[in-house]
This record gives sequence, C-alpha cells and structure tokens, in this order.
Amino acid sequence: MIIAVDGPAAAGKGTLTRRLAGHYGLRCLDTGSLYRSVAATLIAAGSDPQDTAAAVAAAETVDPRRFAASELRAPGTGHAASIIAAEPDVRAALLIFQRAFAARPPGAVLDGRDIGTVVCPDADVKLFVTASVGARAERRWLELREADPGAQLEDVRADLERRDARDASRDTAPMRAAADAHLLDTTEMDIDTAFREAVAIIDAARG
Ligand code: C5P
Repeated sequence: MIIAVDGPAAAGKGTLTRRLAGHYGLRCLDTGSLYRSVAATLIAAGSDPQDTAAAVAAAETVDPRRFAASELRAPGTGHAASIIAAEPDVRAALLIFQRAFAARPPGAVLDGRDIGTVVCPDADVKLFVTASVGARAERRWLELREADPGAQLEDVRADLERRDARDASRDTAPMRAAADAHLLDTTEMDIDTAFREAVAIIDAARG
C-alpha cells in the first residue's frame, strides 16, 4: 500500500506520516528531507542554491542521514531547499530515489508537495493536509523557539508564506492537491485528532 501525504509547510504532515506508517506497518519517507539534504550539501560546500550543476550532483547521491536533524530543519536550509526544488533536473534525480523507495514492499507513506500528483500518482490513498497560515506559523515558531529563543513569530510566518508561494507557483511539480486527494484541514486539530481523522479517511477509502 502507498499513502501520499501532501500539503504546505508546517501543516503537520511529518508527524502524521510517521504515525500512519507505524499504524499500517509501512515504511515512511519525509521527501522534504531530500530537498533539504541537497540544500545542506550546497551550504556546506559554500555553493549557491542557484548552482544547478552542483545541486543535481548532490541530488544524484542524496543521503539525508549525512546531516543532523537540526541542520536539515534550520530555516536557512528550508529556504535554500525551496529554491533548489524549482529546478527540474534536481526534481528528476530525486524522483528516482522516491519511486524506488515507494516500490519496495510492503509499501510506504510519503510526505511532500507532489507525491499524489507526480511521485506516486497511483497511490492507494492521497491526503492533502492543510491548516491556516496563522496556525502553521505558530506551530513552527513553538518548535523553533526551543533551539532559538529569539525566533520571531512574524518572521516565521513570512518565511512560510514565501516558501508556500514559491512551491505553489513553480512550473515543475508545483504543490497542489491531486484531483483524487482527500482534504484534511488540521487548523483546529491536535495531532491525535488529525491522526484519527486520517485513519478514518484511509480506512473508508480502502473499503
Ligand atoms: O517539507 P519540507 O518543509 O521539509 O520541504 C522543504 C522544501 O522542499 C519545500 O519548501 C519544497 O520546496 C521542497 N519539497 C518539494 N517537493 C517535495 C518535498 C519538499 O518541492 N515532495
């Protein structure tokens, strides 16, 4: 079984994906970590995120385990990742990795921006997880404050809005809900409620 989980930044996709994978006995892949890993490779080498040749080379040998979670989750890495993610050749290289991952038994839950539309268009169930930008900014800010007590809510919100706009407007594999995706708005939900709702949607969709 393959479950696709797409949606904008900080909508709760990551936690939901891990819990769904545990519940259904599937493997899970945070595809954002692949784009972040390419970005982190370029940052570590002092390269520009616009350096397409360097980004493609990093994408062809991607391994998110090379970086600590704190490096991958840093706001600068997310920003560079969304610039790199607009490059078709980078996406093509990462597509190979993602499809190979999804194809291995017993199946997987993948979260990202284009899983239901491009990576796994034949996924058994597709979710598009959203929340208001205010709710998403607050969640991400609370997370970031643990590492950086000076983090400002307005900056976090502006960063999310910039990234969402770039992800939704790029020509190749823009972020959007697949026509057959089930929408899950988590604005008013805690993670336990969102998980229960997602399981209800998936179980109903599988009959
Ligand atoms: O999900 P996360 O915030 O970690 O993703 C970082 C960036 O990677 C996103 O802003 C987006 O530009 C890119 N991305 C993508 N397609 C995916 C997953 C992530 O373009 N499937």
